[in-house]
Amino acid sequence: MVRTPTPDDRFSFGLWTVGWEARDQFGDASRPHLDPLGSCRRLADLGAWGVTFHDDDLVPFGSSEAERDRIVADFRKTLDETGLVCEMVTTNTFSHPVFKDGAFTSNNRDVRRYGLRKVVRNVDLAAELGAQTFVMWGGREGAEYDGAKDLNAALDRYREGIDTVAAYIKQQGYDLRIALEPKPNEPRGDIILPTVGHALGFIAQLEHGDIVGLNPEVGHEQMAGLNYTAGIAQALWAGKLFHIDLNGQRSIKYDQDLVFGHGDLLSAFFTVDLLENGFPGGGPRYEGPRHFDYKPSRTEDVDGVWASAAANMSTYVLLAERAAAYRADPEVQAAFAASRVLELAEPTLGAGETLTDLLADRSAYEDVDADALAEAGYAFVALNQLAVEHALGAR
Ligand code: GCO
Ligand code: MN
Ligand code: MN
Repeated sequence: MVRTPTPDDRFSFGLWTVGWEARDQFGDASRPHLDPLGSCRRLADLGAWGVTFHDDDLVPFGSSEAERDRIVADFRKTLDETGLVCEMVTTNTFSHPVFKDGAFTSNNRDVRRYGLRKVVRNVDLAAELGAQTFVMWGGREGAEYDGAKDLNAALDRYREGIDTVAAYIKQQGYDLRIALEPKPNEPRGDIILPTVGHALGFIAQLEHGDIVGLNPEVGHEQMAGLNYTAGIAQALWAGKLFHIDLNGQRSIKYDQDLVFGHGDLLSAFFTVDLLENGFPGGGPRYEGPRHFDYKPSRTEDVDGVWASAAANMSTYVLLAERAAAYRADPEVQAAFAASRVLELAEPTLGAGETLTDLLADRSAYEDVDADALAEAGYAFVALNQLAVEHALGAR
């Protein structure tokens, strides 16, 4: 590894990532079950700062109250011993067949009530463990057939579910915020809240939307052919980037959950550049954990699991170094100027100027020679080549 990560880097991992036994649609598990507490210790040794989990990753579905208490106590002890932080908790509302038509949006009301209970119970655990983010990925909230789901009612029920959980968090006084995780499809044919944009629109309709934001995942936006960096940029602009799931994806296909940077590497460079350096002209910054939600490929053995965990952090650290060099390079600053990148921060209307003033300003329209205004290029290609050269370590 180029530089050993430290807790200051605030890297965190889902226990379900390294713990994935690699059972897929077509084949059985290719790796043994890993003890989640052993995984915590190994991640801490590798330099991780935090861990996250679904209720069922830690406490097997159907465990008794006593078993649950014992497992949670052991987990706490491991956190104390390793110094790891449990920064986020999420709920599994997708594995058990009871959720085959969703949890909050199942057509069956009994399932919706059961799902809400499972989520609220886990909110208590999240608060108890000091987590600050409660992720909600509605993987089964969706349909295969357009006639199977009344989407107006489904969105009403989704809003009811999220608002109920958010109201509970406020009522309990928990220092916890909900982060919705969009995904276009898989496991459902179509998932409700398929992209960052859909989720932002949904949050605007909530009663308790002030504590609801987003947990965008690299591969999920890319599965929809979208630009992840642009997606998190808009979430940041909206004050809604509460958490992130970093991984890799190679184009529009099944959810690959590759190591961060093992998909679209240049996109990963710009993601890290935004996360570490912010927008070129200033603005909101992401202050949350650098969280990885990936799957060690099915071809890997247990050694490969740990190599892949380390690879996520190593790639991030390298890209952060490259992105810092990119921003600091005077040639890049000159290229920003040549491309007028920083001019975009200037308001289009002058201070105190009204639309009436603009309409009266002949120099803004009547006297403009549009052909002359169209002449100069923006030199974006030269700017991008500098990014490529920095990303490749050539500068
Ligand atoms: C996926 C999802 C999941 C969720 C996780 C949190 O790859 O489809 O990312 O991994 O992030 O289950 O609830
Ligand atoms: Mn995924
Ligand atoms: Mn995810």
